[in-house]
This record gives sequence, C-alpha cells and structure tokens, in this order.
Amino acid sequence: MSSDHPALNTGDLRSQWLADYQPQLRISEIGKLAAIGDGIAWIEGLPSAAMDQILRFENGSEALVFHLGSKRIGAILLGQEDGLAAGAAAHLTGRRLDIGVGDGFLGRVVDPLGNPLDGGPQPQFSRRRSLEVSSPPITARDFVRRPLLSGSKMVDTMIPIGKGQRQLIIGDAGTGKSSLAMDTIIAQKGRDVLCVYVLISQKRSAVVATIETLRRASVLDISCVVVAEATTTPGLKFLAPFAGCALAEEWMWSGRDVLVVYDDLTTHARAYRELSLLLRRPPGREAYPGDIFYLHARLLERSTCLAARYGSGSMTALPIVETEQGEIAAYIPTNLISITDGQIYLDPAFYARGFLPAIDITRSVSRIGGKAQLPAIKGEAGRMKLDFLQFLELEVFTRFGSRLEAGVDAKIRRGCLLRELLKQERLAPLSPEQQLAWLVAYNEGAFDALAGAAVQARLARLLHKAAAGGPGLAAGRDAWREAVAGWLHEAGDEPPA
Ligand SMILES: Nc1ncnc2c1ncn2[C@@H]1O[C@H](COP(=O)(O)OP(=O)(O)O)[C@@H](O)[C@H]1O
Ligand SMILES: [Mg+2]
Repeated sequence: MSSDHPALNTGDLRSQWLADYQPQLRISEIGKLAAIGDGIAWIEGLPSAAMDQILRFENGSEALVFHLGSKRIGAILLGQEDGLAAGAAAHLTGRRLDIGVGDGFLGRVVDPLGNPLDGGPQPQFSRRRSLEVSSPPITARDFVRRPLLSGSKMVDTMIPIGKGQRQLIIGDAGTGKSSLAMDTIIAQKGRDVLCVYVLISQKRSAVVATIETLRRASVLDISCVVVAEATTTPGLKFLAPFAGCALAEEWMWSGRDVLVVYDDLTTHARAYRELSLLLRRPPGREAYPGDIFYLHARLLERSTCLAARYGSGSMTALPIVETEQGEIAAYIPTNLISITDGQIYLDPAFYARGFLPAIDITRSVSRIGGKAQLPAIKGEAGRMKLDFLQFLELEVFTRFGSRLEAGVDAKIRRGCLLRELLKQERLAPLSPEQQLAWLVAYNEGAFDALAGAAVQARLARLLHKAAAGGPGLAAGRDAWREAVAGWLHEAGDEPPA
C-alpha cells in the first residue's frame, strides 16, 4: 500500500483487503417452533429475545414475545395457526407491535392489528403507532375543563363528564351499559369528537348489531370499531384495547377530541387470565395475574387532556366493567373504580322496574366532570339533583309504611315526577339546549300538576320545540324562562305559572 496516497491507490487497497480477509461466522439467531396451540407459540432458541418483540416464522407469520422462560419463549400468534408446524424456524425482527393509525380508519371495522373486518380494503395510513407506549407526562397535560356531552339526562345533569376524563360504566349483565356507551357515541354527532369503540369478546350477532346501530345513527363515519370477537384467540382479545387506544392517541396528539369505549374490561381481564394460564404464569387474586391492575392502569392513564402547546387534544375513556350480582367489591371492579375518575352505576333492580336508563345516582359519581359542566346546566341542575337525592332517601322510609311528616308528601310527589322526567329511551341523546329546556321547565313547575304518561307527553313536545336551539346556552335565565314558556304555549301546554 502506498504510504503517500493510501486512499487513491484502490488497486493496492483491494489486494490488501484480500490478504487480510479471514472468513468468519456471522451470528444470526434462529429459533425453532417447539409447540403451537390456542394462539400461543412456544419457541426454543433465540436467547436474545426480549418482551414485546415481534418474531417471524419461516412462512411469514408473526408472533409477539409475551413470556420468557428459561428454556422456551411463549409468544402470541398474530395471524393464523395453519401452515405452522413444530420445527419451523423463527427469527427476531427487532420490531415492536404497532398498527396503522389516522383518518383512514374512520368508518372502518378492524381487528386489533388494524386488518379490515368489514370486507373493505386495507385502511390507508401514513403513520403507525405502538400499541404499548408511556402515558403523556404530567407537564403535557391540562386540567379537564371542557364538557363531553353524553346526551343522557341523568349523566349530563348529575354525573357530568369532561373531555379527558375516565368514567367507568359498571353494572350487571343486561343493565344497559353498552347502550349508554353507544348513546354517548351517538351524541357526538356534529360535535367534532371522533370515537373509537373497542368490542372485546362479544358474539358476532352482538357485534353486527352494534355496528348497524352506529351506522343507522350516522356516527360510523366519525368512528373506528376495533373488534376481537368471542371466537378469536385470547392474545388478540388482550391486544384489542391497546389497539383502540393507539388509534385514539394518534387523533388526540393531532389536536382532536376523541372518545374511546372499552366494552368491556371484565372480558379483557378474563382473556389476560386465560393467556397467563396458557403461558403458565402464576395466578394471583381471584386467579387473575397480579399485573392486571398495572395493565389497566397504564391503559387508562393514556387518556387525558393535552395542554395547549401540545395541541389541546383529548381522549375521554369510558371503560365498561360487568359485575356479578352487583358485587362491586370483586377484584377487577375495585381496581377499575380506583383507576378511573368516577363511575356510573347501573342497577338491575331499577332496570326491572322500568326506570331506564337504570342509573343509581346514589352510587354514581363524577370526580372531575363538575368543573367542566356547562354553567347554565350546572346552575339549573343543582336543585333538581338535591330534590332527587332527597326523594330517594325518603322513598326508603315510605316502603315501611311509616307515617310521614307534613311536607314530605310534596317532596315524594316531586321525586316521582323527576323519576318520570329522567326516563330516557335508547338512541335519543339530548342536545345541551334540550337539557336546559327541560331543567328550566321543571324548576319553573311546568310539570307539577302532571303524572305518568302526561309528563312524558309534555316533555316530548317541549324537547321537540327545543331541538331548534332556543336563545343559546350563553343567554340568561330570564331568556330561557321566556323561551320555555313560549314553547309550552305553542305546544298547547299552558305556560308555567
Ligand atoms: N334506556 C333504555 N331504554 C330502553 N331499553 C334499554 C335502555 N337501555 C338499555 N336497554 C335495553 O336493555 C338491554 C340490555 O342493554 P345492554 O346495553 O346490552 O346491557 P349490558 O351492556 O349492560 O349487558 C338491551 O336490550 C337494550 O336495548
Ligand atoms: Mg354490553
């Protein structure tokens, strides 16, 4: 090699390189599929595998490393089992699990890996997001101060939700949990809120009905539905809420408001338990693995309201949890109650008596939503809530047939009237103007002389009139009182005294 111009003397360089060349082994790890079943693959080899990494088999299918044993690795299969047999080679890809995100997913039904389930083409996307990320740091967060309107009379007036809040919907099977969540999605129509509905382990018929309901209410095109059906593997069921969260996160970080519903986290916990048992992890309380609390906490911690310098986006979460015989002290419900900012409790006894939605207001709470409630509604709802709570307390006594003091009778009558007013059909969310209209009418005594069906009829006429808008939410109380009196008069109902 010339010492003067080593870099220019390429012929010499090449011969030097050849002279120095020593054949070497390049180390590349190849694992071997040892066993497969229930959506789990057991792999031998791959000593440098780490948790949450993706590995690929020779036929191209992939799996997520989920358990590191001393001899074998347990991995969740992300595709079909067919075509894979023991002995297949596997190698690490160095990737982590992520899915495509963005507006291409609006109006779509996808599985937890982002593959279409609605017969349409693969959703278009330009970005991918990790299923598992850290939640936004405190410094990136803002206080919850804008309302997320659910359209439910009971929720918006007495247990208000704010954007970025995590509000648990809890109750036995068949008490209307999913219906309430779906109505909240429907209420977002025209409100510039995008929705992600995660359905975990539901029967195909229920999934189809849900999607059809959203489509008919014309909110499917502002939503993405993530489905892990009952018949799918526990691995995919486990991944579903994280996939939904990643989709919601993308919109939140781009400055949008998002509502995400996890329906439900009881079945999610069950899928995780199944997965853990298949992977032979030790069970903890009530046979759930100990880290289920941590998992749910991490998931819900990702819902928040971002500060202005991060675009002011928000992710409101409505996790659903199913109880058995009203047992809210079981492991998963208590976990979720402690992780969330409040809960809406649905009572099967109310459901049985036809008080729908079957919300038990005495056991429901919203810890932060009050700060985000629309001031006009907050002002009108205060007395109504007090009336209703007093009534619920007194009602217990009347059941014992005890003699009532004077004045109590009137309170009971007001309570019965309220119970009638608070009933609400499915798929009929109210606008904030409609909420204000019925509250003002109630506070002005417009329903006092009525009972039962007559209350419903007058309420329906009033809400119909108020649907057009009225004096606006910023208008004073007098303007609203006049508007309500006018509407009642037009509808043939005498104006309030
Ligand atoms: N506000 C309501 N008015 C009338 N029917 C309702 C209402 N809420 C729920 N339902 C009905 O109650 C049943 C159970 O509701 P669902 O939301 O599936 O309960 P869950 O999710 O708690 O199991 C459904 O048939 C639903 O149509
Ligand atoms: Mg349900």
